[in-house]
Amino acid sequence: DDIVTRMKNIELIEIGRHQIKPWYFSPYPQEMTTLPVIYICEFCLKYIKSPKCLERHLAKCQANHPPGNEIYRKNNISFFEIDGRKNKTYAQNLCLLAKLFLDHKTLYYDTDPFLFYIMCEIDDMGYHIVGYFSKEKESTEDYNVACILTLPPFQRKGYGKLLIEFSYELSKIEGRTGSPEKPLSDLGLLSYRSYWSQTIMEILLNLKPSEPGEHPMITTNDISEMTSIKKDDVISTLQHLNLINYYKGQYIVTITNEALEAHTKAAKKRTIRIDPKCLHWQPKD
Ligand code: COA
Ligand code: NA
Repeated sequence: DDIVTRMKNIELIEIGRHQIKPWYFSPYPQEMTTLPVIYICEFCLKYIKSPKCLERHLAKCQANHPPGNEIYRKNNISFFEIDGRKNKTYAQNLCLLAKLFLDHKTLYYDTDPFLFYIMCEIDDMGYHIVGYFSKEKESTEDYNVACILTLPPFQRKGYGKLLIEFSYELSKIEGRTGSPEKPLSDLGLLSYRSYWSQTIMEILLNLKPSEPGEHPMITTNDISEMTSIKKDDVISTLQHLNLINYYKGQYIVTITNEALEAHTKAAKKRTIRIDPKCLHWQPKD
């Protein structure tokens, strides 16, 4: 590719009530890149060149939610599953929008092999997109997430971890472990580390000894099966938290005060969680 085509090419987008400054290049059609603002329909994600055209579009556009099936709803949070083959236009527009905030991923023009999980906040006006992740219908590498994004106005409120939690709930229903596609961005890695650490710490802190006075026992395989977090990620998280010690010929996990304090603090901040009872989904095959 020509270096010029990779430079950030869109000044500003307007989607719903939000104006957002893009972070990176995204291959919108050439004629869109000379505009001061691109208008995006927050429901169908169509890109539009002027407020006039947007007005005309909104008068026509019947959608007040993403296409596909609503597979989760709790309070004002909802998830839709979209098949990249059946809803190609929506999926392509979503990828164009997401690429504005993703540096390292190649954009897949072919959306057929992917499912898209759109997270929305619901109010009287409809279902407003907050973020999404994509997932290969069949991954040879056990990836359970391809791309993941929280739109910038909604970042740092815990929605990233909510998307991640959702992706693992799907893997639990599939009865498999999974891992995000590599490479992860810096922000992606931070979010995953935070999710993995909290999930694993919750399990460790809830362990009961089999006999009074004994140390509780659990294997990394057990943790992996309970959480659907791939075993490599379980081990790297335990190492990252500095919890693994070698003692009398075996590896043991010792919970440090530091890890406990960090966990308590993070758990307090984590106010929204996925409620598996509100997820209505079966894997297709
Ligand atoms: N600086 C420092 N820490 C950050 C951060 C930032 N800018 N953004 C998120 N984090 C940390 C949070 O502190 C939090 O950890 P904590 O709860 O232990 O404090 C953790 O990452 C997750 O935060 P959360 O609010 O749940 O995530 P988010 O809604 O901001 O979304 C991403 C996280 C990665 C989805 C979001 O940053 C994003 O969309 N980035 C652009 C696309 C991308 O890089 N995707 C991943 C590529 S694989
Ligand atoms: Na990604």
